Amino acid sequence: MSLSSPQRFDSIASNYKTSEVHRSSPTLDRLRAILPPAQSVCDVASGAGHTGLAFAATASRLVAVDATPNMLAQFRELAAERGVAGEAVAAFAEAIPLPSGSFDLVVCRLAAHHFTDVQRAISEMARLARPGAHVAVIDLEGHPDPALDALNHDIELLHDPTHVRSYTATRWREMFAASGLMVTVCETRWREFPAGLSVGRWCELGQSGPEATRAIRDRLAATPAQWLAALDITQDADGEFRLPIRTLLIAGQKSVLPPRRTGERPAGRGGTARCPSGSDRFG
Ligand SMILES: C[S@@+](CC[C@H](N)C(=O)[O-])C[C@H]1O[C@@H](n2cnc3c(N)ncnc32)[C@H](O)[C@@H]1O
Repeated sequence: MSLSSPQRFDSIASNYKTSEVHRSSPTLDRLRAILPPAQSVCDVASGAGHTGLAFAATASRLVAVDATPNMLAQFRELAAERGVAGEAVAAFAEAIPLPSGSFDLVVCRLAAHHFTDVQRAISEMARLARPGAHVAVIDLEGHPDPALDALNHDIELLHDPTHVRSYTATRWREMFAASGLMVTVCETRWREFPAGLSVGRWCELGQSGPEATRAIRDRLAATPAQWLAALDITQDADGEFRLPIRTLLIAGQKSVLPPRRTGERPAGRGGTARCPSGSDRFG
């Protein structure tokens, strides 16, 4: 039986509360440095909430949205440990049951590559942002070279069969524009874990299993050195491969002018996507 992304994350949620890749990163520091302070923050596909919580010092309202109940439980725990009040909303990114224009900042990190309709999810994020507010995404970066992109995609799929697609910067710019967001920053070739995460640890975090772990190592061992270098993959003296988790960071601002298109669907209702219901406030 193949699992959907939320089903898979439900069984491994606790890994993401302590994960060295997720709890801090250079891109999170960079986002904090380039974005203006936000009073209200929505973290979409929050996982354990590391990204939203990185903005908690300035925010009086923090909402975590995720499709996986156990991930929201991790968020509640982490927020409580840090003394942060938060709201947890169980929903798909493609259909978020929150009113339009309610946030100064909408963030989404290391999750968009799981979305089955990423354009719709970006439009939802744009809808949640108030006019003039920012939407910021950090996600795995697709490679502009098709052969390298295909290799990257195969490895991601071995690691996580629910992986959908890592997009290039060009594609991200198009998607932001299509959702009415003016791109203010788009930075490529970030490393979420600059020291490089071993294939063993990467697969442990994602519970990929021994077969997939072996297949990834075999595939990388058969890959030309210049391709590995192009993907910033290194190899230890004992033969283990290390991946820096290549990401891009894109931020866009929602126009202060009213949208030009008419006949848009009502705020807060997403149409056909199946949406787990339920939200709570705590803290
Ligand atoms: C790697 S974790 C997120 C990490 C987190 N954003 C962080 O910065 O630590 C990916 C998350 O995406 C969520 N997810 C996957 N597909 C989703 C969807 N369509 N809608 C909402 N959440 C989704 C999963 O439940 C999981 O919590």
